[in-house]
Amino acid sequence: MAESMKGLKRTHRCTELTADMIGSTVTLMGWVQKRRNLGSLIFVDLRDRSGLMQLYFEEETIGKEGFEKAGSLRSEFVIAVTGTLEQRSGAFNESLKTGELEVKVLSLRILSESLTPPFPIDADITVKDDLRLKYRYLDLRRPNIQRNLILRSKVAMLTRQFLAGEGFLEIETPMLTKSTPEGARDYLVPSRVHPGSFYALPQSPQLFKQLLMVSGYDRYFQLAKCFRDEDLRADRQPEFTQIDMELSFVDVDDVIDVNERLLACLFKECLGEEISLPIQRMTWKEAMDRFGSDKPDLRFGMEIQDVSDLVKDCGFGVFTGALEQGGTVRALCAKGLGDVSSKKMKNIEKSAKDYGAKGLAYIQLKSDGSMKCPFAKFVSEEFLTGLTQAVGAGKGDLVVFAADKYKVVCDVLGALRLKFADQLDMINKEEYRFVWITEFPLLEWSEEQGRYTAMHHPFTMPMEEDLPFIDEEPGRVRAKAYDIVLNGTELGGGSVRIHQDDIQEKMFECLGFTKEEAYERFGFLLDAFKYGVPPHAGLAYGLDRLVMLMAKEDSIRDVIAFPKIKDASCLMTNAPDLVDQKQLDELFIKVVD
Ligand code: AMO
Ligand code: AMP
Repeated sequence: MAESMKGLKRTHRCTELTADMIGSTVTLMGWVQKRRNLGSLIFVDLRDRSGLMQLYFEEETIGKEGFEKAGSLRSEFVIAVTGTLEQRSGAFNESLKTGELEVKVLSLRILSESLTPPFPIDADITVKDDLRLKYRYLDLRRPNIQRNLILRSKVAMLTRQFLAGEGFLEIETPMLTKSTPEGARDYLVPSRVHPGSFYALPQSPQLFKQLLMVSGYDRYFQLAKCFRDEDLRADRQPEFTQIDMELSFVDVDDVIDVNERLLACLFKECLGEEISLPIQRMTWKEAMDRFGSDKPDLRFGMEIQDVSDLVKDCGFGVFTGALEQGGTVRALCAKGLGDVSSKKMKNIEKSAKDYGAKGLAYIQLKSDGSMKCPFAKFVSEEFLTGLTQAVGAGKGDLVVFAADKYKVVCDVLGALRLKFADQLDMINKEEYRFVWITEFPLLEWSEEQGRYTAMHHPFTMPMEEDLPFIDEEPGRVRAKAYDIVLNGTELGGGSVRIHQDDIQEKMFECLGFTKEEAYERFGFLLDAFKYGVPPHAGLAYGLDRLVMLMAKEDSIRDVIAFPKIKDASCLMTNAPDLVDQKQLDELFIKVVD
């Protein structure tokens, strides 16, 4: 039977009790982790969000009834106890913060009972994802997830504190709004008052934060919920949180400076990690050339090598053909993978194809001195020797080659580089390796749409020195855009924005928007810019990704209280769900299938 807590007041959380408080009377409240009966003694581990405390009950202190009640306790019952803090009489438990303490219970109340949970509330137990998310409220009781959410709260608090100290104002922007230009699909909300019209949930506060700069707020930030209807992955959720900011009268270096100091503060305060500033910067081109990715993991080397010049007359059609078509041939030398089995090699080839390669040429230099190279028959022996030497391969190494358009080659080798590093266990999981990626291309050719799209978004400023190419070679123009990358994950990105009409018009032209179309979508911003717009720039982090990396988790689901699964549904609430016909009628919506 559930008792009330009338007259009781919790004095401490479990791990707030320390040895210097021994002898004091304390009242604790929490969940029963486990109970052990030792005849005349009953031990209970009590858990609250701070950790565990061992309680013990003996009949002569608590009385017959109290002792029987203690004997009826089961896992996840919620109890309140008052007792005396003592040094443990038994062996200390080194692994517990309160391992040298225990509470002799003088009174016990059962505040509520619990069914047997579908899985134990224990960090060390592997539970199937579906079960965890169906019972998320129990999963959230597990100490590892609690630690993550506590860290998340700390990151959010510190961010607010830090940015406020730098003169930023926290301003909210609407959730029910108009489509924002971040390139994903929108979540739409039907309007009851305007039949057939829809709000879009924001993919980011982009347009509003730029308007706030027009309004003179100067430095804005927000921990903003964003919504994007895109395919989910380990580091993507349909709704997620950005640490979003915008600054007036600044250039790239100013944004980078304040953000480096923010990151250094968060890592120092939350993890005790010193990030040495300034953080390394690398241009997009260098990142792609060396690592095949715009979010390179710099915790290991294994750089991509351009062998186009070496192979241009080698006689192997795959290589020479790619070069003739304006492509490139590049290699990756994986030290120590030369002895992989044929089956594993097939697997590697298959992955390369999944990443977009037409095939994967390779040279396997086995440790016994033999060599396997499917294209050896097309080239001379001297050429092969020269090539392996040039890429620094020796006995026991594997060299793979991709011959294709630049983008395909980078994608394939960039992805294989990560796969090989994982297989070779090359990554130091303790390291935090940051890098700013700068000078992104302004535009990206979309085969699908047959036009250029904005690599960041349409309000990103081109680099002044590249403006002369914008008409003839728009693909060559670089942007004043930057991403912050940590251990191969894009943590955040931003740009200096266009504040001049003529450049903005040019940008829309490059993107294939007519003036009318641009006005239709972004007219309110373009109008606002006619009333005195300061030069401005900004950036947004994925807060979930940041906390995921800080907590060393593999999925952002583990740092979000109530996340969704791959098909964007919530296993606990069953959202999205059908609604009453009445609701649909009110919204003038007819469902057709
Ligand atoms: P961008 O689209 O690069 O930029 O987003 C910024 C950061 O948000 C995070 N992020 C996500 N996190 C979880 N799930 C998702 N589906 C998801 N999508 C993005 C990433 C990303 O780096 N308005 C611009 C910023 C600016 O220019 O100021 C923007 O939204 O960590
Ligand atoms: P093929 O002549 O198509 O059988 O290819 C000979 C070898 O080159 C095979 O090992 C293919 O996997 C490989 N190969 C084919 N296309 C490419 C490519 N675009 N880049 C690298 N290797 C390739």
